[in-house]
Amino acid sequence: MNFRGIFLAKCLVVLFSCVKGSTDKAPKVYGIRNDSVFLNIPDFKVEQQQEVSWLKNILPLTKGKGSVVKYYKDKEKYEQFPNGTLKIDHLVEEDSGNYKVTVYNDTGSLQVEENLILSVQEMVTKPEIKWTCSQKSIKVTCEVKQKNKPALRLLQNNKILFERQPTDANGIWKIEYQHKAKNRTAKFQCEVKNDVSMKTTDQEIKCSGPLDIILIGSIAGGAVVFVIFLALLIYCIRKKRAERYEEQGKHLKLSCCCMTT
Ligand SMILES: *[C@@H]1O[C@H](CO)[C@@H](O)[C@H](O)[C@H]1NC(C)=O
Ligand SMILES: *[C@@H]1O[C@H](CO)[C@@H](O)[C@H](O)[C@H]1NC(C)=O
Ligand SMILES: *[C@@H]1O[C@H](CO)[C@@H](O)[C@H](O)[C@H]1NC(C)=O
Ligand SMILES: *[C@@H]1O[C@H](CO)[C@@H](O)[C@H](O)[C@H]1NC(C)=O
Repeated sequence: MNFRGIFLAKCLVVLFSCVKGSTDKAPKVYGIRNDSVFLNIPDFKVEQQQEVSWLKNILPLTKGKGSVVKYYKDKEKYEQFPNGTLKIDHLVEEDSGNYKVTVYNDTGSLQVEENLILSVQEMVTKPEIKWTCSQKSIKVTCEVKQKNKPALRLLQNNKILFERQPTDANGIWKIEYQHKAKNRTAKFQCEVKNDVSMKTTDQEIKCSGPLDIILIGSIAGGAVVFVIFLALLIYCIRKKRAERYEEQGKHLKLSCCCMTT
């Protein structure tokens, strides 16, 4: 291999390790709010006389060998086991973040250094399906009250019908779907999901007929106008007739008078 070849090979090695490094992301761990989570040291078995330390965003939490553990923070919240696992209780959203664990052997040389990303999420609540019937379609809305954005989707007979990023309005996340079908009854399932939980709601929708509220409204309005028109017509005819009788009466009286004189 000439000099250029060696140089090229070196470049490739650097490039490769760089690419490998960037895909080598910290593992993600999910915890449920108000619950506990166990942070294990990835791919490592702690041996006796090895010292394990946990840090959160570079602030020390615990340090210990076996069952002798020093707690730098809230002792009620954290517990480090002899195998190095860190348990965190009463999870709140603020517990989310980057956790780092280091293990040293008893001559003080580093054995392991790993990062974990903890994400604390609330359990999702049961979604609600709402709908409005119109002439040609049914507008189906699935919504859920939730602090953080969940994934929402609409299913029919276990098949995904509609999946979309939900929109948020005052802590209510929702998706809207226009269902176009001849059948005026339909069954839907709404599924809401995040990294720690999932819930579904079943709903049968019945639209009474092909009439929507606007149409019913306009028909009712038309009927009222028609009745008023009819009443006016009758009133006018009657009035006209009455006037005619009155006039005839006058003529009659007049002729009578003439006859007597
Ligand atoms: C968390 O747990 C506490 C007590 O265990 C309870 O009072 C509170 O309602 C829970 N909070 C949530 C959001 O579940
Ligand atoms: C370490 O020990 C704790 C408590 O006995 C256990 O819950 C946890 O699963 C253990 N972790 C591993 C990686 O074995
Ligand atoms: C500690 O680790 C270093 C490097 O891995 C090793 O050379 C040394 O023998 C270890 N010491 C003990 C007591 O295991
Ligand atoms: C309409 O759908 C319902 C429920 O999905 C079904 O029971 C019914 O037979 C369907 N009607 C027609 C006319 O297809």
